[in-house]
Amino acid sequence: MRHLLGTPAQWLRSRFPVDQEALTAIGSEPIPGHLRRWWWCIGGTPAYLFLVQIASGILLTFYYVPSPEFAYDSVAAISSEVRFGSYLRSIHKWSSHLMIIAMLLHMLRVFFTGAYRPPRELNWMVGCGLLLLTLGAGFTGYSLVWEQLSYWGATVAANILSAVPILGDQLAAFLRGGDTVGQNMLTRLFVLHIGAIPTLMIGCLAIHVYLVRAHGVSELGSPNTSDSEPFPFFPNHFLTEVALALFLMFFLTCLALIFPADLGERANALETPEHIKPEWYFFWAFRWLKLMPDQVAVVTQGLFLLLIVLWPVIDGRIRKRHPESEISMAVGGAAVVLLLALTVWEALYLMT
Ligand code: HEM
Repeated sequence: MRHLLGTPAQWLRSRFPVDQEALTAIGSEPIPGHLRRWWWCIGGTPAYLFLVQIASGILLTFYYVPSPEFAYDSVAAISSEVRFGSYLRSIHKWSSHLMIIAMLLHMLRVFFTGAYRPPRELNWMVGCGLLLLTLGAGFTGYSLVWEQLSYWGATVAANILSAVPILGDQLAAFLRGGDTVGQNMLTRLFVLHIGAIPTLMIGCLAIHVYLVRAHGVSELGSPNTSDSEPFPFFPNHFLTEVALALFLMFFLTCLALIFPADLGERANALETPEHIKPEWYFFWAFRWLKLMPDQVAVVTQGLFLLLIVLWPVIDGRIRKRHPESEISMAVGGAAVVLLLALTVWEALYLMT
């Protein structure tokens, strides 16, 4: 019988033909030497954390119940009754925080090394899409718990949406699925969190990685620096990423055991908490909203995001006229200081 079918590998290869040469070529593509610096190739870290999010998220979905009556109890049961449930919840929560930190660091590296410049403008925009989707995943996930803070956070977010000019009321009604925050909104948050957002992210990631490969990774200064010697993707770079993944799993486990995901009070639509507290990555936006009328805040935030997305085009225009212009350093520096200041301000306010 074995003689008739050949070895299992032969059997599989004949049923699932793969161009072995193309596969070897992809795996052995040389990586520029400067990617030995960890901060230059930090983009691999959010990719790994995204996988952790998907795996832990699927397991959590086996137990989570997306209904206002049972959502909170199901999360409480995951934390206290399901085997390894608290660990899973904590891993899911902590990897979302680390993913956002890693993405921001990656974005800073790309920005301050000018790697968004031609021909990589489009990939910067795809990256911005990935960041916004990740923030969306953070917001929708936080709201699913249906505890006081997350419930009121979602309520405030829907109210803020209505301050968007022209389409505001429609957007808010779309998110809520009606006029009030209840089952319809929870269903929407759930579908966005476990279906629409991850699917869009996988699509954006595929385009992002394709463009990285198509353009190659940008150079670090002169290509003739001492560490410019390229090295193979497999096994060198691959093993570095595996080592990083193992370290991250260890670090996530430490965080999950030392600071397990907690659970606040059950949502109560009749009692507004003293402070509404979003996740830390929205502190800047929340503080901004407190400083001015809602509509002004929403419009300026929208323009700020647009500035970030379109920065490669704006910078390109400026550099056409002034080829040596490094205005991006000043603009980037000012944006980082402003975002940090607003974030710290809100954090200090919430601590009082
Ligand atoms: C899920 C989130 C993301 C993942 C997994 C990811 C992954 C990667 C990877 C693996 C690279 C190759 C070089 C490196 O490792 O740094 C890369 C390059 C790049 N990324 Fe991302 N990225 C993400 C988000 C972003 C964001 C938020 C931006 C900016 C808004 C961005 C813009 C870019 C650009 C322009 C490049 C080309 C840089 C160069 O050639 O030096 N990415 N990304």
